Amino acid sequence: MRSIKTLAAGAAIIALAAGAAKAEESVEVLHWWTAGGEAAALNVLKQNLQKEGVSWKDMPVAGGSGVQAMTALRARVTSGDPPTAVQMLGFDIRDWAEMGVVGNLNDVAQKQGWDKVIPAALQNFAKYDGNWIAAPVNIHSTNWLWINKAALDKAGGKAPTNFDELVAMLDNFKSQGIIPLAHGGQPWQDGTLWEAVVLSVGGADFYKKAILDLDTAALSGDTMRKVFDDMSKLKTYFDPNFSGRDWNLTSALVIEGKAGAQEMGDWAKGEFLRANKKPGTDFVCIRFPGTQGNVLFNADQFVMFDVGGDKRDAQLKMAAAVEDPSFQIAFNTVKGSVPARTDVPGDQFDDCGKKGIQDVAEAAAKGTLMGSLAHGYAQPSAIKEAIFDVVTQHLNGQISTDEALKRLPEAVAAAK
Ligand code: BGC
Repeated sequence: MRSIKTLAAGAAIIALAAGAAKAEESVEVLHWWTAGGEAAALNVLKQNLQKEGVSWKDMPVAGGSGVQAMTALRARVTSGDPPTAVQMLGFDIRDWAEMGVVGNLNDVAQKQGWDKVIPAALQNFAKYDGNWIAAPVNIHSTNWLWINKAALDKAGGKAPTNFDELVAMLDNFKSQGIIPLAHGGQPWQDGTLWEAVVLSVGGADFYKKAILDLDTAALSGDTMRKVFDDMSKLKTYFDPNFSGRDWNLTSALVIEGKAGAQEMGDWAKGEFLRANKKPGTDFVCIRFPGTQGNVLFNADQFVMFDVGGDKRDAQLKMAAAVEDPSFQIAFNTVKGSVPARTDVPGDQFDDCGKKGIQDVAEAAAKGTLMGSLAHGYAQPSAIKEAIFDVVTQHLNGQISTDEALKRLPEAVAAAK
């Protein structure tokens, strides 16, 4: 008879062998979720996949909005060694699909009924030539303002609803001796603030005309002049160290009460939550004043590169895990975004999340759910970057408003 000890050793060997077999199935994931709230959300996905026997090889490339991650991706693909899965936004997804290097997710999409539950605005980018080529993780939006609640209370407690009220609040923050408006001076952050101001000054029709249609008159007319003037005004509320500062360090200033407010996408909420701050108690989330009822969206999606048969099963498991409704809740409540599926209940989301879900649904219904320029959903990268150049140079005082109005349509035309 075999001893208990031998049986136990045998069981251990079997367990090890099973572990080794599981470890063979893995995904290498390129992403830019390196800030505290982002990494916490990503962990939810890592753990879910590990439970399914898929191990995770992390390829983080820091840099908000993924500019550096996309450079790293190009290098990997050029050297013939693409990662298995890549976080990606809007037009970049389309570019890679056009090159014919991404995998087809139709099987899992059909099994989980993605066609019925993923909003059309996302399908527009997640499908190419009628085939699913990306798994949307979430819906973020960029036209938010994050306000320190104690500072707002001292300023009278009423959140601003238009530009004049915003300026009055910022003046009050100034008199409190804190940084009125926390901003990180990087082109994508300048662009994120600018697109909110475009929407605030001109409304949804103007955003569509200028940013989605690239109408020359809209890019150089009086409404755009007011946009640049408002940007110059907002800059007077930045602190002297804004240049080059990362978005999460900028959020930290608001979290710690060193600054009053930050304009940023709802990934900023992930940082507040990570710091144990509660919406409505420690911070207040509002639509950027003047943009209520309209949403500039961006959605993180995972694109699976065509890396050969043996990795495919793990890729499909990852895509299925991403669209699982309970994952959508667990991930997005931490990340600050709202679910990419319309059938996921919102009751476990905090008040900012609930507002986000409702805003997206309302904007989609009335046709004002519009792609964010700064986060890849309004124009291809070349045009986005051409616009960033003008916006950043103007914000840094290198060119005047007259010059910006002249340069904007020229830069867009050259990048087309
Ligand atoms: C992404 C977010 C991310 C943010 C800052 C955005 O483009 O969609 O998921 O948190 O950049 O890195």
